[in-house]
Amino acid sequence: MNTAIDTIAPQFRAYNFCAGPCALPVSVLEELSAELVDYKGTGMSLIEMSHRGPEYDAVHHDALDRFRRLFAVPEDFSILLLQGGATLQFAMVPMNVAQPDDHIGYVVGGTWGKKAVADAKILRPNTYEAWSGADEGFRAMPTLDQLSIRDNTRYLHVTSNETIGGIRMSDFEDPGVRVVADMSSDYLSRPIPWDLFDVVYGGAQKNLGPAGLAVVFVRNSILDAAPKNPAYLTYKTHADADSLANTPPVFPIWATGKMLAWMEANGGVEGMQSRAVRRSSMVYSAIESSDGFYKSPVNPADRSHTNIVFRLSSEELEKQFLAAAEAENFLFLKGHRSVGGIRASVYNATPDESVQALTDFMAGFASKAG
Ligand SMILES: Cc1ncc(COP(=O)(O)O)c(C=O)c1O
Repeated sequence: MNTAIDTIAPQFRAYNFCAGPCALPVSVLEELSAELVDYKGTGMSLIEMSHRGPEYDAVHHDALDRFRRLFAVPEDFSILLLQGGATLQFAMVPMNVAQPDDHIGYVVGGTWGKKAVADAKILRPNTYEAWSGADEGFRAMPTLDQLSIRDNTRYLHVTSNETIGGIRMSDFEDPGVRVVADMSSDYLSRPIPWDLFDVVYGGAQKNLGPAGLAVVFVRNSILDAAPKNPAYLTYKTHADADSLANTPPVFPIWATGKMLAWMEANGGVEGMQSRAVRRSSMVYSAIESSDGFYKSPVNPADRSHTNIVFRLSSEELEKQFLAAAEAENFLFLKGHRSVGGIRASVYNATPDESVQALTDFMAGFASKAG
C-alpha cells in the first residue's frame, strides 16, 4: 500500500472537511480504481459478481478479520456488517437487547442521542432519558454523578461523539449498568473498553469508509436472549451467517477492508487516536490563539476530536468565512443546518496537511477581517 501519496496534492484534491461521507486516503481510492473494472483478472468487477463466490468471500472475511484485529474485539462478540446506517440501529438495539417491558436509559447529548431515544420510545414504553443536555443547548457531556439511572435498567445508551454539536465523551466510565454506544463519528479513533458494552455500533462513512455500511459489535449472550423480530432486524440472523444472510453491501465492505488495511499500516487504533488528538489540537489552538475572533461553544473538557465546531462574531462574518474558504478549496465547513456556525470534521483519513492549511487560512482570514 502506497501511503506516500496520501499526502495532499492540492492540484486535484480538495481540502475535505465533510462530516460524512468522509475523506478517504488517496491510496485507497487509487487501489479501488485500479481494481474496479477487472477484478484480479476475472473479467468482471467485484461489484458485478456473486456475493457467494470465492472472490467476494475472501474480501468479506478479510474485512471481518481486520475488524476483529484492529478493534481488539473479544471472542464473545459478533461483528455484523449491515445496511440501514446507524439510524436503523436506533431501532434494532432496543428490539434485540431489551424485552418489551425493560427499562432502558438514554444519555441525550445532542441531535443523535435525541433521535436514538425517540425511536426507542416507540418500541419500548419504559424508555427514559437518564440525562439530557438540551436545556444548556448541548455544550457538554454529563459526569457519572449527573446520570439518573433507574433500578433494573437493562442498558444505558450513549452517543460517544455528537457529530453536530462537536461534543465527545472523554472517558468511558462504568455507570453500573450495561452500556450500548453509538460511536459513528469516533469509530476506530479511540480504543473501546469492551467490558462495559453489550453493543457498539456506527455508520462506516465517517472514520471507516464509504457510506452504505453499518458496523455492529454485539455481545453473543444478547443473541439468544432477544425477543422475536423479523429476520433482517434480528442480530442473530446476521451473526449466524457471518453477515451473509442476504446480499451484503459489497462495495462499502470492499472499500472499508482497504481502509482498515491502511489504518493497520498507519499505527492501528493508537495511531488513529494520536492523529485525532494532533489534528483536533491544531484547530483548537487556532481558535484559542485568535483573541476571541473564533470561539468554541463546547465545554473544553468535552470538545470532540473529530468534529470541531466554532463560531465567529456574526452570521454575516461566518458567511464571508465560508465563501472565502470555499474559494480556496476548503470544502464542507458549514455547520449542520440545525445549528449553523462552522464545523471542521477531521476523521481518520484527513491528512495533517489539510488541517495545517486550514489553520493557516483561519489565521489569515482573522488578520484581514479582525
Ligand atoms: C453520531 C451519529 N449517529 C448516527 C448517525 C446516523 O447515521 P446514518 O446516516 O449512517 O444512519 C450519524 C450521522 O451523521 C451520527 O453522526
